[in-house]
Amino acid sequence: MQLIKHEKSFHLLYVLIVLVLLMKLAPRFISGVKGATFGCIERERQALLKFKEDLIDDFGILSTWGSEEEKRDCCKWRGVGCNNRTGHVTHLDLHRENGGKYLTGKISNSLLELQHLSYLNLSGSEFELSSFEGSPFPYFIGSLKNLKYLDLSFIGVVGTLSNQFWNLSRLQYLDLSGNYYVNFTSLEFLSNLFSLEYLDLSGNNVSQAIDWMQIVNKLPFLKILRLSGCDLSKSSPPSLSSTNSSKSLAVIDLSQNYLASSTFNWLSNFNSSLVDLDLTSNWIISSENLDWLSHLSSLEHLYLSNNNLSQTIDWLQMPNRLPRLHELLLSSCSLSIIGSPSLSLVNSSKSLALVDFSLNDLSSSIFYWLANFGNSLVDLDLSHNHLQGSIPDAFTNMTSLRILDLSSNQLQGDLSSFGQMCSLNKMYISENNLSGELSQLFGCVESSLEILHLHGNQLQGSLPDITRFTSMRELDLSRNQLNGSLPKRFSQRSELVFLYLDDNQLTGSLTDVTMVSSLIELRIRNNRLDGNVSESIGSLSQLEELHVGGNSLRGVMSEAHFSNLSKLTVLDSTDNSL
Ligand SMILES: *[C@@H]1O[C@H](CO)[C@@H](O)[C@H](O)[C@H]1NC(C)=O
Ligand SMILES: *[C@@H]1O[C@H](CO)[C@@H](O)[C@H](O)[C@H]1NC(C)=O
Ligand SMILES: *[C@@H]1O[C@H](CO)[C@@H](O)[C@H](O)[C@H]1NC(C)=O
Ligand SMILES: *[C@@H]1O[C@H](CO)[C@@H](O)[C@H](O)[C@H]1NC(C)=O
Ligand SMILES: *[C@@H]1O[C@H](CO)[C@@H](O)[C@H](O)[C@H]1NC(C)=O
Ligand SMILES: *[C@@H]1O[C@H](CO)[C@@H](O)[C@H](O)[C@H]1NC(C)=O
Ligand SMILES: *[C@@H]1O[C@H](CO)[C@@H](O)[C@H](O)[C@H]1NC(C)=O
Ligand SMILES: *[C@@H]1O[C@H](CO)[C@@H](O)[C@H](O)[C@H]1NC(C)=O
Ligand SMILES: *[C@@H]1O[C@H](CO)[C@@H](O)[C@H](O)[C@H]1NC(C)=O
Ligand SMILES: *[C@@H]1O[C@H](CO)[C@@H](O)[C@H](O)[C@H]1NC(C)=O
Ligand SMILES: *[C@@H]1O[C@H](CO)[C@@H](O)[C@H](O)[C@H]1NC(C)=O
Ligand SMILES: *[C@@H]1O[C@H](CO)[C@@H](O)[C@H](O)[C@H]1NC(C)=O
Repeated sequence: MQLIKHEKSFHLLYVLIVLVLLMKLAPRFISGVKGATFGCIERERQALLKFKEDLIDDFGILSTWGSEEEKRDCCKWRGVGCNNRTGHVTHLDLHRENGGKYLTGKISNSLLELQHLSYLNLSGSEFELSSFEGSPFPYFIGSLKNLKYLDLSFIGVVGTLSNQFWNLSRLQYLDLSGNYYVNFTSLEFLSNLFSLEYLDLSGNNVSQAIDWMQIVNKLPFLKILRLSGCDLSKSSPPSLSSTNSSKSLAVIDLSQNYLASSTFNWLSNFNSSLVDLDLTSNWIISSENLDWLSHLSSLEHLYLSNNNLSQTIDWLQMPNRLPRLHELLLSSCSLSIIGSPSLSLVNSSKSLALVDFSLNDLSSSIFYWLANFGNSLVDLDLSHNHLQGSIPDAFTNMTSLRILDLSSNQLQGDLSSFGQMCSLNKMYISENNLSGELSQLFGCVESSLEILHLHGNQLQGSLPDITRFTSMRELDLSRNQLNGSLPKRFSQRSELVFLYLDDNQLTGSLTDVTMVSSLIELRIRNNRLDGNVSESIGSLSQLEELHVGGNSLRGVMSEAHFSNLSKLTVLDSTDNSL
């Protein structure tokens, strides 16, 4: 009896399993057949055609969409993607293209038919608002419950958003950025979007959502949060317990919100996950407690430009507290070095690669501190400070440096420290008090330099063969004391595109420089060039601007000079004897 009972239930189980398997296979089988004839599901195809009808497609973006026989398979239409097993439309990607092609017109609610849609990208399209029935975003989108990726950034809409997206609880990615005329009265709807990993509301007015921090704090999987320029509520935040806070936030951008330091205490909840922090343009003041910052020990990128750190929160110790720090941006922070602080960083990881301390009140003692990072620095900006005295030796050890900006300081000395910086691509030391000659740069930097700006210094001597800089594209030596004649010969091998030599004392004739046929802009205003302008200037076939005013050029410039200069748009030859 017992045995038979067992056998019976076994049979039942078997039948059940077969049934379940059949049911699972059935839709696959059916859609497979459909797929063979139609490629996509007819109802969804009709929905897309209806959607197209209401759009204005000036750029022919939807030219592959149509009812013609050869366009039957809507899964092959541009921007449409289907599940290859079920045939349902799952992707619709109609974002504005790089070249500026985009869709306009009405947005039809026929899209509601696409209930399997998981990816919708309309970024940068411009739809008629009348079609949204009062809500800032197409109202039916809140009913596409399978959406995981929704990008409605920069679609130029207007209105007030409250809970329209409440039901999209599967969303992992939500980008509504750049819709400047949308008011977010509350972010409450986000508390239902518990799968969110990426949230970008930058450039919207979120000022009325006073609860933004509590809500964001509780999204358990949120990794990337961008709320730049949101006019975020300044109401003083409650102290947020870390117990229930998300532990996964890695990237936070709260730049351009003019929030006070105390708002950011909350960030210490993310002390083990936060990698990128952008608080540019807020009201962080050094006299306030900034302990939260020193707890963020996993930070690699810290952007604090346009805050006020004048009273030194010991910002020089930051690399000690934040051992993984890789990029540190403190431009325009009223930074100064008071007294003689300890400038060596005993315990720092010495991994800083990008440092921007431009537009501050720093003195040259910052170089002792920077020497800690001699081997790691790649991009250093100290422009617009009060650096004085001679160029420090420290640079000879900065062998990884690719970009150096020391413009607008009062540095003296010559260029010899830079000749052996074999990785340097871009060097800006304009508006200083450098002397010496350009030829002091001849060294391995000759082949790496692409941009060199030295205008507004006291460089002397004659112009060497600048085509020795084999990678140079942009050379600005205006407003120095260069004399002597233009070199008789330039090597043909040159990438030079912009050459600026205004306001020097160069002599000679214009013939010679014409050897550099890659030039697009040539400026030699206010020098002492003389002689006739040779017709060989015509070999500068790429030239768009030629400025030779304020010299002593003579003779006639005729059509023969210009017949090959088909791209020339600006010619300045005033104040000569032409
Ligand atoms: C179907 O799509 C999945 C994932 O999208 C892919 O891995 C698979 O190779 C596709 N199958 C066919 C037959 O194209
Ligand atoms: C939407 O398209 C834009 C290109 O305009 C792209 O930058 C963005 O990452 C896309 N969004 C998603 C969710 O893939
Ligand atoms: C945003 O809200 C403010 C104040 O409530 C209101 O004056 C403004 O018109 C609203 N803007 C839009 C686009 O609804
Ligand atoms: C969410 O879905 C429920 C049930 O389907 C519906 O009653 C409600 O109106 C929807 N809410 C929004 C904001 O779409
Ligand atoms: C944001 O909206 C509020 C009113 O809702 C308004 O007072 C404020 O000026 C707006 N902010 C910006 C930057 O437009
Ligand atoms: C944290 O979450 C638990 C359960 O979800 C809840 O009981 C508790 O009140 C929450 N604590 C705080 C501080 O929000
Ligand atoms: C983060 O903070 C918590 C609580 O303050 C602490 O227990 C933990 O050790 C910290 N983690 C790191 C990586 O600093
Ligand atoms: C920075 O803050 C100090 C006081 O902490 C103040 O004296 C100074 O004027 C502020 N600087 C700027 C540029 O706001
Ligand atoms: C460096 O670390 C050691 C031990 O980890 C500590 O005792 C010392 O105070 C630290 N020095 C500095 C300058 O932070
Ligand atoms: C360059 O580095 C070497 C070895 O690390 C060191 O001995 C020397 O003092 C450094 N030179 C300068 C100018 O910092
Ligand atoms: C520039 O340097 C020279 C010495 O090389 C010095 O005499 C002069 O005062 C400096 N000018 C400025 C503005 O610092
Ligand atoms: C260039 O100027 C230097 C001094 O600045 C002077 O010694 C030299 O003779 C000048 N050369 C020419 C060719 O004028």
